[in-house]
Amino acid sequence: MSICTKKFLLNSGFYMPAVGLGTWQGHVGSKAVTEMRDTIIYALQKGYRHIDTAAVYGVEEIVGEAIRMSGVPRSEIFLVTKLHSTHHAHVEEAFLESMKKLNCEYIDLYLMHWPQSLTLDGKPTKTPTPPETWLSMEALKLKYPDQVRSLGVSNFSEKTMEELLKVATIVPATNQVEVHPMLPQHDLVKYMNEKGILTTCYSPLGQYVPAILQNPHVLDLADKYNVTAAQIVLAWEVSRDLVVIPKSTNLERIMQNITYPELAPEDITFLNDFYKAPGMHRRLCQINGGTPTGHDIVIGWTYEELGWEPYTVE
Ligand SMILES: NC(=O)c1ccc[n+]([C@@H]2O[C@H](COP(=O)([O-])OP(=O)(O)OC[C@H]3O[C@@H](n4cnc5c(N)ncnc54)[C@H](OP(=O)(O)O)[C@@H]3O)[C@@H](O)[C@H]2O)c1
Repeated sequence: MSICTKKFLLNSGFYMPAVGLGTWQGHVGSKAVTEMRDTIIYALQKGYRHIDTAAVYGVEEIVGEAIRMSGVPRSEIFLVTKLHSTHHAHVEEAFLESMKKLNCEYIDLYLMHWPQSLTLDGKPTKTPTPPETWLSMEALKLKYPDQVRSLGVSNFSEKTMEELLKVATIVPATNQVEVHPMLPQHDLVKYMNEKGILTTCYSPLGQYVPAILQNPHVLDLADKYNVTAAQIVLAWEVSRDLVVIPKSTNLERIMQNITYPELAPEDITFLNDFYKAPGMHRRLCQINGGTPTGHDIVIGWTYEELGWEPYTVE
């Protein structure tokens, strides 16, 4: 098995590598964050060409340093960062701050991290609305065409995307959402594909939950292909023509996460239907909360406002 070099053509005309390295390491200042620079350098030197970060992860400086220290030309790396919800009314300021921290000439893809706006001190606010924020991002792209190559969003549903598309003159290149076998997002992916918007899977390993990665059938598939359960799950996501951004700070796992077998159609079907087992269809990413009642609040919005399905508890 060789390293996955699959790329997707975005509606902006640029190519995006199918596999990226996630950089959400949890608490800023933790050991994982201080070790991250070395793991990013390692990943780039071993063939990763896509790094996913965000202003709110607090690691943009480390990401920028790692890119420069890796020896891999910037032109070969696809760098993604995200506008934090506290800065929807301050898009240009936030972008320039990210550029300064990353200390790079351009960003390949700038995402609205969430549709929700927060005030600068982190309180939910109704304005700007997601379409208004998108128009500010379009204005940014007009003003800095060489510094921001593509624009996209994250955590958008069909409902919030419909609102955005009513005003957009630039169609988002990607939508980054939670996807794993317990939340395959088949309908959302189909909708985004119809609009020409590529889906990126965050928490593609479900933040490593045993319900997926120690499932006996998934482990049987790992045996069949002589790989790990994580590789089976990522291979399935990439086989669906989705981008994956697994996070690992472990060198061996970083290599596993970019090396996949080609799955047989019946194994892809099994993973496509994995969520249908009783109690399995749900969100796992910690920030997305969740209880069987579906009355969750995520960054000030209900699931209904987000356009997210509530938990399905069979
Ligand atoms: N847009 C958004 O709102 C949003 C939200 C969440 C995440 N993200 C992005 O998506 C990235 C990935 O998501 P995530 O970090 O939530 O979850 P994830 O990638 O699904 O899972 C990460 C966890 O799995 C472990 N792991 C990774 N590879 C493994 C392997 N091969 N075998 C066993 N364990 C493995 C990691 O531990 P080790 O490090 O010890 O290997 C870590 O505990 C983030 O880092 C971030 O860049 C975006």
